[in-house]
Amino acid sequence: MTSVPVTLGDRSYAIAIEGGLIATAGERLRALAAPKRVVVVTDETVAGLHLPALLGGLAGFDPQSIVLPAGEATKSFTRLERLCDALLHSDVTRSDIVLAFGGGVIGDLTGFAAAIVKRGVPFLQVPTTLLAMVDSSVGGKTAINTRAGKNLVGAFYQPIAVWADLDLLQSLPLRQMQAGYAEIVKYGLISDPAFFDWCEANAPALLAHDRQALAHAVAESCRAKAAIVAADERETRDLRALLNLGHTFGHALEAETGFSDRLLHGEAVGIGMAQAFRFSARLGLCSGQDAMRVTRHLQQQGLPAWPGDAGVEPSAATRLVAHMQHDKKKTSAGLPFVLARGIGEAFVAKDIALADVEAFLASDAP
Ligand code: GLY
Repeated sequence: MTSVPVTLGDRSYAIAIEGGLIATAGERLRALAAPKRVVVVTDETVAGLHLPALLGGLAGFDPQSIVLPAGEATKSFTRLERLCDALLHSDVTRSDIVLAFGGGVIGDLTGFAAAIVKRGVPFLQVPTTLLAMVDSSVGGKTAINTRAGKNLVGAFYQPIAVWADLDLLQSLPLRQMQAGYAEIVKYGLISDPAFFDWCEANAPALLAHDRQALAHAVAESCRAKAAIVAADERETRDLRALLNLGHTFGHALEAETGFSDRLLHGEAVGIGMAQAFRFSARLGLCSGQDAMRVTRHLQQQGLPAWPGDAGVEPSAATRLVAHMQHDKKKTSAGLPFVLARGIGEAFVAKDIALADVEAFLASDAP
């Protein structure tokens, strides 16, 4: 069993990484918090595959479950209100635990509901996708989407633990594995060139569900994220912002493709990271070889690496920049971009002219 600590004073917690965690959920809960009851929040897809096993593991805690529709549309004000009502109806108290059992949508929505119901009830993250295991379940960002954009209403609210049960990945489709992989390789690209080398050598095994490769990648990703979150929980320094590598370019592509299955979040981040490196090369910050190495690596894993791979042509450049104007990272000083001086050397640039971004996007094609 690997246990990665997230050190945040009295809000510290551990990320457990192992197979078989949900089957032993009851024992683990007893050791962790001994709650009176557990309310599981999940979606229809995960419920069909894994809910009976989790509820079996939780026998003795009188588990209740709330099953929501799968998909990004669930991260809405309407669903938040209904979830809060359902939690209040179940009479959840601060002695109970709300368990988020799903991917990023369920984790973000449930975490936000747990943060505001009765001004905060304890919640536990049990991610079921690779992306949620290595990114969204760790670090306490919770949110819903609004008409103005993604994740614009939310709270920082840390879980009491994260259980990354690697067995759950065995049923995850390849496309979802690839989307999660983009957030794994991100940690190498931000600050760990040796981990990027490891990714180049081991990505095919990882995507084929090799247990050792998955365990290593999830643990390394969680360690990297935990260190950043411990140092800059609320993104007030330029540290946590590094985790947004590929996200400003990527969010614009998600907006352009309607936040739909046409382009998954992890796929958008993949293209966005390749773009961040190609833009950095264009500005003379990093070598063209590094930018092409990143682009090629993503392509070799079956990920899109150019906007055109998602059907977004260079002629969309003006619209893409307009989407960026709604980015929540924008401040009165402008929009920060995570750029790179090389693989493992990402930094936050605050002086980027959007005209330069638009000129780059207008020519960003293979
Ligand atoms: N997903 C970026 C962060 O947690 O800060």
